[in-house]
Amino acid sequence: MSKKLRMAIIGCGSIALHAHASNYEKIDNIEIVALCDLKPERTALFKEKYQCCKNAFETTDYMDIAKRDDVDAVDICTPNYLHSIIAIEMLNAGKHVLTEKPDAMTVAEVKAMKEAADKNGKILMAMRNNRYTPAAIYARKSIANGEYGEFYAGRCGWVRRRGVPGDGSWFSDKSKSGGGPLIDLGVHMIDLAMFLMGNPKPVSVSGSTFRRLTESKPEFIFDVEELAMGFIKFDNGACLQIDFSWAANIPNESIFVELRGEKAGIKIENDVLTVHGEKNGQEYNEHVKARGEYGHCTAIRHFADVVLNGTEPIFTPDQGIQMIAILNALYESAATGREVLL
Ligand SMILES: NC(=O)c1ccc[n+]([C@@H]2O[C@H](COP(=O)([O-])OP(=O)(O)OC[C@H]3O[C@@H](n4cnc5c(N)ncnc54)[C@H](O)[C@@H]3O)[C@@H](O)[C@H]2O)c1
Repeated sequence: MSKKLRMAIIGCGSIALHAHASNYEKIDNIEIVALCDLKPERTALFKEKYQCCKNAFETTDYMDIAKRDDVDAVDICTPNYLHSIIAIEMLNAGKHVLTEKPDAMTVAEVKAMKEAADKNGKILMAMRNNRYTPAAIYARKSIANGEYGEFYAGRCGWVRRRGVPGDGSWFSDKSKSGGGPLIDLGVHMIDLAMFLMGNPKPVSVSGSTFRRLTESKPEFIFDVEELAMGFIKFDNGACLQIDFSWAANIPNESIFVELRGEKAGIKIENDVLTVHGEKNGQEYNEHVKARGEYGHCTAIRHFADVVLNGTEPIFTPDQGIQMIAILNALYESAATGREVLL
């Protein structure tokens, strides 16, 4: 393999434009060799806007990418229902795969993706950009130093007052997205909470979903929840409350993980880390405005490092299967009104 990782972006929409191509500009060991989107004007825009895409081959058919010998890896940024379909095609064609979140919509899909990766000996990684924000990286180092003690309970969420993505797009069509804010935003913050808690094994979930504020319009499908709340229990006795919305009557948007540790608690909210502890008989709150690279950029660098240099992956496909199992079980719990065992 050449020293640079030769990658193709499949799905040149919003996230690929704003958080992937913009970061490929800064990453020296990745070369963008191909671009694919159903709409040719989207790949054309990438070529026009980004130097790293200038010489890329363009196509509207992702199977053209599978056939190309000059593509080592693909970056899948299509709607959710295509993640597993395209990933499996690419893994079977001998490409490494980085896919946007959520890894896929169902447990059967993520398991099939892992099987294809194992069968073909290729790397499969799902985007977990929130693990790589400066605040999360700082927290991880402090956790490794034992500064907070064991996290035994927590809360996490991404609550929007009004913020349905894509207004009438595939996001609110369950057959294309797999669900509403729970799968769209939950995958980010539940993952971050569990990652910082040391990846405890989930054993049961209980969830409720709601649709009270968002309107149905005849011109598009809206059959997902707008609010999901729930509770996850882990085999080490720890627990996590969850709260995700695209629409809710709340003060403001908040993106947070709050973990209760034996020595200190931490809260990461909107990228600011606060440590809550007690020292010399006094309570203290320490605010850390960590500086560093955008989470997507570090995540993509890590993918390249794993493929090119054999670096130990921070994310494993089994964690992806576990995450989709949690999300699917929360939906099942909301539908049946019962706790679901994992
Ligand atoms: N990690 C994050 O922070 C983050 C943020 C937003 C979105 N996402 C994820 O990124 C993915 C894309 O989201 P988006 O907001 O960019 O959506 P989008 O609708 O803006 O972009 C999707 C693109 O895929 C293209 N596409 C659809 N079918 C295709 C096919 N068969 N072949 C090739 N291209 C095809 C569409 O034409 C479109 O350009 C989703 O899975 C979403 O969950 C992640």
